[in-house]
Amino acid sequence: MELVGKNALVTGGGRGIGKAITAELLGLGANVTVLEIEPSHIQAAEAELAPLSSGGDRLAFSLGSVSSAADVDAAFALAKERFGTVHMLVNNAGTAAMSPVVDMTEEDWDLIVDTCMKGTFLCTRAYARQAIDNGEGGAIVNISSLNAIAATDGLGHYCAAKAGVSQFTKVCAGELGRFEIRVNAIAPGTTRTPLSEGFTIGRMGDEFLNRVVIGKEPQHTEPQDIANVAIFLLSDLASRITGLTIPVDGGNHVRGLFSYWDVAVEEGIV
Ligand SMILES: NC(=O)c1ccc[n+]([C@@H]2O[C@H](COP(=O)([O-])OP(=O)(O)OC[C@H]3O[C@@H](n4cnc5c(N)ncnc54)[C@H](O)[C@@H]3O)[C@@H](O)[C@H]2O)c1
Repeated sequence: MELVGKNALVTGGGRGIGKAITAELLGLGANVTVLEIEPSHIQAAEAELAPLSSGGDRLAFSLGSVSSAADVDAAFALAKERFGTVHMLVNNAGTAAMSPVVDMTEEDWDLIVDTCMKGTFLCTRAYARQAIDNGEGGAIVNISSLNAIAATDGLGHYCAAKAGVSQFTKVCAGELGRFEIRVNAIAPGTTRTPLSEGFTIGRMGDEFLNRVVIGKEPQHTEPQDIANVAIFLLSDLASRITGLTIPVDGGNHVRGLFSYWDVAVEEGIV
């Protein structure tokens, strides 16, 4: 598979799953613009990804938040200036916190819903406007979560936002299909990134591994596992697939996601 001459925009590409997807796109020859909120993540990713991006020539970073329309517009303007129209969009930026609904703060609700759901809307709108004008079609991959499907105590904001992302994926697939733009989502299970550190070790890690069905000795999902499926969905190999949310979780969804609030409290994760 080759993506030479194709342009991508990845949100939250400074670390974790977004960085793995960015690396994979660069390795296949694409030009990538990353919209990232954290300067230290940009600095580290810039150094790490330089060898994959012709010394940085095929990689641009835009500092800002997916939940700000002005920042999103600035990122698409930078992508246009550096590489041209964006063909592929990965809505990956997200964040999480844990709290029962009765104790949940408005700030946490706004942060999580704005990052995961509003960010996906703002970037999709900006992407679709320029891709429709361009007329060449394209593809969007949204990083949703198993929490779009399964409810977990303590994650009311996150579950609501990710369910929103998956439903939004279907609406956009319907609206954008006539422009040859496909829209799909991935629902990662617990994936080893800085965001989920406490969830892959100790008792919490064991609880998740007990629900992974692939392998004699089940393993946690890695960012590379998500990147592989993202690349497939962005590529022409998936030319007849749109509107889906695909779990990438070692089969965790087969067993069901356990509601881990009590374990999180006992293990001191919250
Ligand atoms: N790690 C998991 O177990 C897991 C499971 C299911 C879904 N997900 C989803 O995968 C996505 C990536 O998660 P991750 O585990 O790699 O997280 P991470 O925290 O390791 O990386 C997320 C990146 O996004 C950036 N970011 C956060 N808010 C932003 C904003 N408003 N604008 C731009 N950038 C922003 C962060 O600075 C960071 O670099 C998220 O949407 C997350 O909800 C992760």
